[in-house]
Amino acid sequence: MKKLRTFFALAVLALLATNCNNKSEEYIDPRGTDYAGSESCIQCHQAQYEMASHSSHFKATSLPTKENILGDFSQGNHVFIYDKNTKLVMEQRNDSLYQVLYKNGKEVEAHPFDILFGTKHAQTSAYWNNHFAYELPVSFYKSLNNWATSPGYSATQVNFNRKIEKECFACHSSNIGSRYITTSSDSITFMSMDVEDFMNKKTLVYGIDCERCHGPAKKHAAFHLKFPDVKKAQNIVAIKSLSRQQKLDACAICHSGNDKLKIKSRFEFRPGDNLLDYFRGVPNANDTTHYDVHGNQMRLLTQSKCFIKSDKMDCITCHNPHQNASPNLASYSKICMSCHQGIQHNETTLKTMSGSLLAANCVECHMPKKASNAITFQPSNSKELSNYILRTHKIGIYPSAKK
Ligand code: HEC
Ligand code: HEC
Ligand code: HEC
Ligand code: HEC
Ligand code: HEC
Ligand code: HEC
Ligand code: HEC
Repeated sequence: MKKLRTFFALAVLALLATNCNNKSEEYIDPRGTDYAGSESCIQCHQAQYEMASHSSHFKATSLPTKENILGDFSQGNHVFIYDKNTKLVMEQRNDSLYQVLYKNGKEVEAHPFDILFGTKHAQTSAYWNNHFAYELPVSFYKSLNNWATSPGYSATQVNFNRKIEKECFACHSSNIGSRYITTSSDSITFMSMDVEDFMNKKTLVYGIDCERCHGPAKKHAAFHLKFPDVKKAQNIVAIKSLSRQQKLDACAICHSGNDKLKIKSRFEFRPGDNLLDYFRGVPNANDTTHYDVHGNQMRLLTQSKCFIKSDKMDCITCHNPHQNASPNLASYSKICMSCHQGIQHNETTLKTMSGSLLAANCVECHMPKKASNAITFQPSNSKELSNYILRTHKIGIYPSAKK
């Protein structure tokens, strides 16, 4: 009897196990059958997964959950006033969050927060309507700790009709298709809909995931599952052995601005590809005014003497690709000093700061914070434009450099 029960328990376990396996085999990535999805990497790359899943890259687009959403919905700062008769209120209704427009105290229009863009300094949101995504007119800014107009929006006129372009998704997500997918038990059918900015939300892969940077990895994962003793990576590009330019391009596909003629979609980019096959008409490198601190770290960095005169500096010199930029400025000083040992500042500079402080603050003076020309916003009831402020990647000597 006891034996039988054990047998039963084992049988149930086996059943559960096959169910589990089936479940993971059933995962169908919206990008197609070459993709395995980030979850499948955990079992062999837990360290990278732990880091990356908490990074801003993974949250560059996300679902509007309590955990992801920034900003106040209940009391205090949840109202944006356009004029004495018109206000927009951030409201929670049942399980969803809305921007609700009131005129003379009456509700006129309400749209849900369906997708969130961003997480570090600011967050813009969008709602879906018939396969198009529309930006919500008010965004959240950490610098104000409050809501303010979405970039480029009026503080006197409400606008719910601006479409989010596919380009936003091309830098902030891992996939959005303009096609329907129907899946039956053993086949996937794709249907094309080639309308500009038409999007099938079911094909959205939120955030910048492992395979957005590494390329499709289903074959890689399958190989190593089958041959666990093989320790040398198969069927995957080794980014560390790419050329400097290729490594830079793998970041620059999203970090070199948006003002170029496109040849191919950013979504098609794979590590090892050449950026020039994707864009034409990269602006003149001497045209500094053209490069904004927002979204264009690449072009700014390439104007620095450090970058030009050293033959190895790339993004990975200072950033772990699986982690956010370190907020610890002293940690960058160590990197600076790996190339600038024994740096001697002149008397005037040394008077502004003690030697030890100076050593910890290379970035404060040589990569100062700058206001973006591209992005401004207006808080409620204010005529003043606020600027979006980021650290420049043009490493140099700045006249106003002080603490
Ligand atoms: C069954 C185990 C297994 C799974 C699943 C797996 N990998 Fe790997 N991967 C390996 C092994 C083994 C290596 C080689 C040793 C190392 O670098 O850790 C490797 C190496 C890599 C490398 C470095 C390649 C190089 O040569 O520099 C990348 C990138 C990578 N894997 C990405 C992924 C991604 C993305 C996924 C999920 C889609 C994934 N792996 C799933 C086993 C696996
Ligand atoms: C597919 C587009 C894409 C690629 C490829 C990409 N990035 Fe990003 N990166 C973004 C976006 C979008 C953000 C802003 C995310 C946010 O805050 O919502 C970002 C943010 C960052 C941040 C700031 C994160 C923080 O919170 O401090 C760093 C640093 C960064 N990227 C470095 C890199 C490096 C290095 C590479 C190349 C290895 C790279 N990125 C490749 C799109 C991309
Ligand atoms: C923003 C782009 C980006 C994302 C997202 C990303 N990686 Fe990487 N990954 C890189 C780059 C660049 C390198 C090469 C680092 C180097 O040369 O030192 C790398 C290296 C690796 C390596 C080699 C070992 C190491 O740590 O250097 C593995 C394994 C790996 N990544 C797995 C993953 C997995 C798994 C995920 C998702 C959980 C992921 N990566 C997400 C860009 C990315
Ligand atoms: C060329 C790539 C690119 C495009 C296109 C792009 N972004 Fe970004 N975006 C970035 C990068 C990179 C960052 C983070 C660093 C920065 O500001 O330079 C960012 C930052 C943001 C942030 C602030 C994120 C944070 O965590 O603080 C928001 C919000 C945002 N983008 C929304 C959008 C929207 C909405 C669109 C479309 C109208 C868009 N972006 C188009 C690359 C892009
Ligand atoms: C990979 C090596 C490397 C790293 C890392 C590096 N630099 Fe440099 N840097 C150089 C080289 C090479 C030059 C050019 C020296 C020359 O012209 O003699 C330079 C030049 C400079 C200059 C002079 C710029 C000018 O316009 O005259 C400053 C300032 C500077 N670096 C600061 C920094 C700071 C701050 C950091 C860290 C955030 C840093 N560097 C990191 C290699 C590097
Ligand atoms: C010499 C070191 C250095 C190099 C090289 C470098 N960065 Fe940075 N990066 C920094 C520093 C310092 C910060 C600011 C950290 C802070 O203030 O919290 C930063 C911040 C960022 C941010 C976040 C901006 C913000 O304010 O939130 C992004 C995005 C970024 N870097 C992308 C890149 C990309 C892409 C490359 C390659 C083209 C690159 N970085 C190369 C030092 C570097
Ligand atoms: C208080 C602001 C400040 C800090 C902090 C600072 N610098 Fe400088 N740095 C300057 C100024 C101003 C100059 C130009 C005048 C001079 O040489 O003193 C300069 C010049 C330089 C130069 C060019 C020297 C030359 O001969 O061309 C380099 C390289 C440099 N700094 C690197 C660094 C590094 C590395 C750190 C961190 C260890 C650092 N600086 C910290 C303000 C600063």
